Amino acid sequence: MKKVFVLLIVFIKFLFADSFITDVEYGKMLYKNPRGIGCNKCHGAKGEGGIIATYKELNKIDRKKYNKNLVAPAINELDPQEFADGVLKSNKIMPMYFLTKDEIIAIYKYLKISNKESKNDK
Ligand code: HEC
Repeated sequence: MKKVFVLLIVFIKFLFADSFITDVEYGKMLYKNPRGIGCNKCHGAKGEGGIIATYKELNKIDRKKYNKNLVAPAINELDPQEFADGVLKSNKIMPMYFLTKDEIIAIYKYLKISNKESKNDK
């Protein structure tokens, strides 16, 4: 019985060792997999913005159809307040997320760091 108990403790320690991640790692995880559709699906891998969909729109004057893009704005150069406001307000296209302040900060940090890294790559 004692042995089983010791084993259990070792096992639990293993589980927790894995869950010590940094804010940035947590932000990365949340950015790609928040409670809902990943931010990266619309805003791009590093928040650079992107095209969500293309569609054709009929111009009523010349009766021709034109290609239109539905875009998600870049979110990698906002200041922290603009970023938080953008996540929390209700939007036309973007879904409503119920992220905590800490989660929003973690995502913000991840975007800042990953954009800094990609600038250093150049
Ligand atoms: C379905 C596509 C979609 C997803 C998924 C999505 N967004 Fe958005 N986001 C948009 C669009 C489009 C806008 C512009 C406002 C609108 O029309 O809804 C926007 C606006 C924003 C803004 C405000 C930008 C500004 O200039 O003020 C922020 C910040 C933002 N999104 C962050 C996020 C974060 C963080 C996530 C993930 C938790 C996320 N978005 C997920 C499409 C998306």
